[in-house]
Amino acid sequence: MTLEEAKKKLAEYGQEHVLRFYDELGDEEKKSLLAQIENTDFSVLHYLKTGDEGKNNRGKITPLGAMELPEIESRKEEFKEAGLSAIRGGKVGAVLLAGGMGTRLGSDDPKCMYDIGITKHVYIIQRQIENLDEVVAEAGVKVPLFIMTSEKNDAKTKAFLKEHDYFGYGKENIWFFRQDMAPAADPDGKVYMESKSRIATSPNGNGGWYSSMAKSGILDIVHAKGIEWLNCFSVDNVLQRIADPVFIGATILSGCATGAKVVRKVSPDEKVGAMCLEDGRPSIVEYYDMTPELLAAKNEKGDPAYNFGVILNYVFREKDLQRVVNEKLPMHVVNKKIAHITENGTFVKPEEPNGYKFEQLILDMIHELDTCLPFEVVRGHEFAPIKNRTGVDSVESARELCRKDGIEL
Ligand code: UTP
Repeated sequence: MTLEEAKKKLAEYGQEHVLRFYDELGDEEKKSLLAQIENTDFSVLHYLKTGDEGKNNRGKITPLGAMELPEIESRKEEFKEAGLSAIRGGKVGAVLLAGGMGTRLGSDDPKCMYDIGITKHVYIIQRQIENLDEVVAEAGVKVPLFIMTSEKNDAKTKAFLKEHDYFGYGKENIWFFRQDMAPAADPDGKVYMESKSRIATSPNGNGGWYSSMAKSGILDIVHAKGIEWLNCFSVDNVLQRIADPVFIGATILSGCATGAKVVRKVSPDEKVGAMCLEDGRPSIVEYYDMTPELLAAKNEKGDPAYNFGVILNYVFREKDLQRVVNEKLPMHVVNKKIAHITENGTFVKPEEPNGYKFEQLILDMIHELDTCLPFEVVRGHEFAPIKNRTGVDSVESARELCRKDGIEL
């Protein structure tokens, strides 16, 4: 993109300040800034004015039951056989969503590199691969593992896995792809600059995984391999069961387009998204959208009607996603701390949220699909998320849950 073209694009979105320091830059920096302007989607900034579509346009929320533990237990062998058969047939891939910034954990390194070990090294990603290895041992084949990183953590994540010899999983069974970035803006909708030659950006949310997979060409590999089901999971649940044959088999046999692992909530107001129907389609209502009526609602058994929380472990029928990618997922505008330079070029690392990031979320993909099987799992055995260093959902709480589950740290 030429300087003239860049000026025109910036003027269209009221972002002329991006070129404030242009004349001071060297040739390479000038080139890189122009390329960044060309590749940046400034249209997301309008969501600052129109608000969070994801929240404002909610349909009618009604309960959606889950397949509960007793039923799963009674049909376990049937589900497992169907799941293992799909895995052995090469129809299942795993997608690790590791593009997040992990700001709450506050480590300088990508979250997957965090060491939760006590007597030995146990890195977060090592736990994930060890769990996947259990399925591999049972199925007798490797499950292709696709890892989504972002521009911010890609190099470190790749180098770390290489240094640890991919924790024995085999380089040939792992593919990396990068997710797209979105600009970060101040409350007036002006993008922040992280340096004189770079617009401040952040990963565009975990809902960007499928379109980023397509853009990067990784989807061609998925198609070439004949993979039909993709199991997406978050990096930070260290008890996560990946490519769980029982879950995959249950979803396939249910005829649903997607399955979501859920846990029974500890209380109706627990801070996890709850499975529901929204205008008759599967959906997830975020904890902050739970009204007093929804919190008090009961089902026919007298249990809370919105009793099952998602744990960011979904299986998607891949061909159904091709349509979803063309539909626009809601945009979530999130108030965050954004490091930036001021008008006179001084670098500032704020202590408090000072601006907005734009994210699409994987949970909104569920609503785009026609059917979903909520599948209950045992909390203590499958849910130990690490969001913070201490307190709720922390390194401390996850260590304790691992210990109770018999995992040596
Ligand atoms: P979180 O919502 O916990 O976000 O991500 P985060 O960025 O990791 O952490 P904080 O909020 O900054 O503390 C849930 C999962 O989605 C992935 C994360 O890596 C994690 O596995 N994720 C999140 C992405 O892959 N990309 C994103 O843009 C955001």
